[in-house]
Amino acid sequence: MYSEKVMDHFEHPRNVGEIENASGVGTVGNAKCGDIMRIYLDIDDDGIIRDVKFKTFGCGAAVATSSMATELVKGKSVREAMEVTNKAVMEALDGLPPVKVHCSLLAEEAIHAALWDYAQKNGITIDGLDKPKSDIHEGEEEAEEEY
Ligand code: FES
Repeated sequence: MYSEKVMDHFEHPRNVGEIENASGVGTVGNAKCGDIMRIYLDIDDDGIIRDVKFKTFGCGAAVATSSMATELVKGKSVREAMEVTNKAVMEALDGLPPVKVHCSLLAEEAIHAALWDYAQKNGITIDGLDKPKSDIHEGEEEAEEEY
């Protein structure tokens, strides 16, 4: 059902963790299943993503796609990171089962939300980047869990 690459990234996820004082942080939730992903970006003065970490409260496909997405954006410029779509992440993983395609959207949305946060903090605009639809602000997910 899952490719070897998906299993590898699920069993040995890359870049798990947090970045203190990150240049941009994005947290998104998957409306379909309620899973949550947070991405931290460390971006230098030249707009290059020097480091990236993620945390995912989600399924195996979400873990694998987050892991692959972090590998794909690391060392890239902000503009290049915009090209890391869920389709690109799935291709890099040799595909996902159709019922798991929605999981790969989390990684793309989380990267966009983190880039949006970075752009807001620095007063810049990034071509093609819109305000994230499902950005969850710090603390909101904890509040949601009480219901
Ligand atoms: Fe929720 Fe995969 S089932 S992200």
